[in-house]
Amino acid sequence: MASKRQMGYKCRIAGVLLLLLASIAALVAVAVIQDTWKFKEYSLEYGIVIDSGSSRSNVYLYEWPGEKQNETGVVTEIMNCRVSGAGISEMKVDPQKDEASWNGFRECMRNVTKAIPVEKHKTTILFLGATAGMRLLHEKDEEKSDEILGSLREYLKTLPFNFQNASILSGQEEGLYGWVTVNYLMGNLLTKNLWNLYANPEGEKTIGSMDLGGASTQIAFAVQEDLRGPDYLHVKLYGYPYNVYTHSFLCYGKNEAGKRILDKIVKESSDPSYIINPCYPEGYNVTMMASEIYDTECTKKPKDYNPDRELFMVGTSNSDKCGSLVKSIFDFKTCSSPQCSFDGVEQPPVVGEFMAYAGFFYTARALGNEGATDLITFNNSVRKFCQSHWTVLRASEERKMISDQHLKTYCYSGHYVFAMLADGYKFDKETWKNINFQREVKKTSIGWSLGYMLSMSNMIPSEVKEIPPLTNPVFAGLIFLFSALTIITVVFVFVFLIRACY
Ligand SMILES: *[C@@H]1O[C@H](CO)[C@@H](O)[C@H](O)[C@H]1NC(C)=O
Ligand SMILES: *[C@@H]1O[C@H](CO)[C@@H](O)[C@H](O)[C@H]1NC(C)=O
Ligand SMILES: *[C@@H]1O[C@H](CO)[C@@H](O)[C@H](O)[C@H]1NC(C)=O
Ligand SMILES: *[C@@H]1O[C@H](CO)[C@@H](O)[C@H](O)[C@H]1NC(C)=O
Repeated sequence: MASKRQMGYKCRIAGVLLLLLASIAALVAVAVIQDTWKFKEYSLEYGIVIDSGSSRSNVYLYEWPGEKQNETGVVTEIMNCRVSGAGISEMKVDPQKDEASWNGFRECMRNVTKAIPVEKHKTTILFLGATAGMRLLHEKDEEKSDEILGSLREYLKTLPFNFQNASILSGQEEGLYGWVTVNYLMGNLLTKNLWNLYANPEGEKTIGSMDLGGASTQIAFAVQEDLRGPDYLHVKLYGYPYNVYTHSFLCYGKNEAGKRILDKIVKESSDPSYIINPCYPEGYNVTMMASEIYDTECTKKPKDYNPDRELFMVGTSNSDKCGSLVKSIFDFKTCSSPQCSFDGVEQPPVVGEFMAYAGFFYTARALGNEGATDLITFNNSVRKFCQSHWTVLRASEERKMISDQHLKTYCYSGHYVFAMLADGYKFDKETWKNINFQREVKKTSIGWSLGYMLSMSNMIPSEVKEIPPLTNPVFAGLIFLFSALTIITVVFVFVFLIRACY
């Protein structure tokens, strides 16, 4: 009787001890998990890219978990600040305008700085890339373009970040980095599978990229390995080789093309105080200065050029006339290769899906053609837009957020986009369906800037270290083994206690 009571007493002590041990184990586990979470929270990394286009600059702030920076799809855009004032290629002309631009930069950089934890400022990489506007200025006046970049470098160096460089991208770089951005965001370069391993999904399936900026336009898409020429770039990303066809057309951006179309209209007219503009809507008349059309390297100044001459334009909503004017700025005939896009530029047939962004997206949106549509629908919506009266266009609810300044341009840019894609790049009824007009993927803007940062900071290395395929399963297996052992032990102890006690 006494021994049995003693046994029960020992059992209770053993039971309490077991409970204590289990509690400690649970506590340790929770602590470890929490520590891991805390660690992740503090290891976010940041990068800033300033995209200095022809008409304005934009500052993009990117964020990614520090431990996983080489994985795909983890870099996201957390802020996008539009610098007020004109593009940087217009700097160093008017001190007052410069002051406005500098204020714009300071405001954006202040906002971006606030969005980054102070302890991360020193390691935040900062790039400035300038595109076609500065390429044009560099051609015209190298000294001035160097001066502008020089003062921007001076300014950016004073910021608390890890400033890399401010430079002008070539057209090919711009096209390639846009393609990298699109495919990175779509997860086409590298992805994670069930076992947390790196794998290239479906080999080398990638999406083409079409960018319409203010001063230039770019097309880039992957083609077969055996095609060669100056417009083919051989790149290796994560160990996979790609042959990317890319071409950038200077003076074929939306704004510069607009000036070239206006130049045609002005030169066809005999009376500068009454110029019929078939691309402007009926009911929209405007007076513009000759300098708005001719103060650029993309149009040829008339013999008796006077920048202050006033030109009065009367819109007539003549879609057919506008369409043929727009086509006249392209040369679709000259070609010494098997196939050309335009102006004698060799281009292989377009293959696969395409992402069309920037000006392509804005034009498609104004016409009610966001996303994917077909060629006939797109063409019809251009005609419908171009035949509409100004008051009808202005009254439409979907176009409320578009300013007059932009709204008046979408008839010519609709024809322009259609002519470039259908007659230039040769998208037909079938392949047009593969074009997706978008501005962002996963809440991140599509443009060259993300691809540029990833490439410049070696976050998309050409080779990946062979990741031992067994690492993770072995780890998972060990965890499983230890869990099983623990459970078995606990069960044994429990059974032993019950046996001993009763
Ligand atoms: C900067 O941040 C302020 C306050 O959040 C905001 O009002 C302002 O519009 C921002 N500036 C720009 C250029 O986005
Ligand atoms: C920055 O870029 C310019 C031209 O793009 C180049 O000449 C210069 O060496 C670069 N500076 C640094 C520090 O990389
Ligand atoms: C535009 O100009 C034309 C021709 O001078 C005129 O008939 C029309 O009333 C004007 N429209 C507007 C909105 O000013
Ligand atoms: C990951 O990126 C860093 C630069 O951020 C680079 O130095 C490193 O080589 C990359 N790691 C792998 C496995 O490629």
